[in-house]
Amino acid sequence: MNWRGIVVLTGAGISRESGLSTFRDADGIWAKVRIEDVATPEAFARDPASVQAFYDARRVQLRDPGVQPNAAHRALVRLAREYPGPVLVVTQNVDDLHDRAGQPALLHMHGELAKAQCLHCGAVSPFEGAGLAAAFCPACGARALRPYVVWFGEIPMHIEEIEEALEACGLFAAIGTSGQVYPAAGYAETARAHGARTVELNLEPTTLTCSFDHARHGPATEVVPAWVDEVLSATRDRR
Ligand code: APR
Repeated sequence: MNWRGIVVLTGAGISRESGLSTFRDADGIWAKVRIEDVATPEAFARDPASVQAFYDARRVQLRDPGVQPNAAHRALVRLAREYPGPVLVVTQNVDDLHDRAGQPALLHMHGELAKAQCLHCGAVSPFEGAGLAAAFCPACGARALRPYVVWFGEIPMHIEEIEEALEACGLFAAIGTSGQVYPAAGYAETARAHGARTVELNLEPTTLTCSFDHARHGPATEVVPAWVDEVLSATRDRR
């Protein structure tokens, strides 16, 4: 039996119970700092020190011992290991919690906080902690590193690969995302247009909830493992 793939899109909500802030909740990152000041190429050109400081602080926080993958991250790894077809996780998150959980097929469409890119040679290298502005590129030695993060106005990564997976999948799930930022916000519609069933797993309804076939609302550490159990047991029934 050929099992159609599953594509899972994750957003900041899946990392909330690991201690990382979301962006648009009342206590979110964009309630404390403006996108225009820290997350655009123009901001980096105008005031690189502020942009570097913003990402340095988030990179340091990522290594706080309390910041660990949670039950939702682990449930998606179990899904990938036990589902008979392909499972691709596409994350908008720049944290490395899916990576540390051991997610097999994972695409970071907005980049990765624990990496840096050289403005001189383009090389991407791991970078931990603060002080990126003073660091040297390991490939060319230039002191010209920027966060390896997609800013507003820049092109997200892996777009073609993601679109292909959406067109081929039989099931699409959006987890912990408010559906405010494109192209990710349009992925459920793309999957559905190609015959996939779609489900939203989020703390609360979003502006996109009505466009999904199903929705489960509650904390990711509760609704995601339950959803994975449902998918896997339905798969066992059909073998
Ligand atoms: N469990 C599940 N969902 C949660 C939880 C939780 N414990 N806590 C919050 N949420 C939900 C919120 O209800 C909200 O719908 O997570 C969602 C987070 O939405 P945003 O803060 O907008 O984050 P996200 O959708 O990932 O933002 C997308 O916007 O700012 C850019 O590049 C940034 O990747 C980010 C993109």
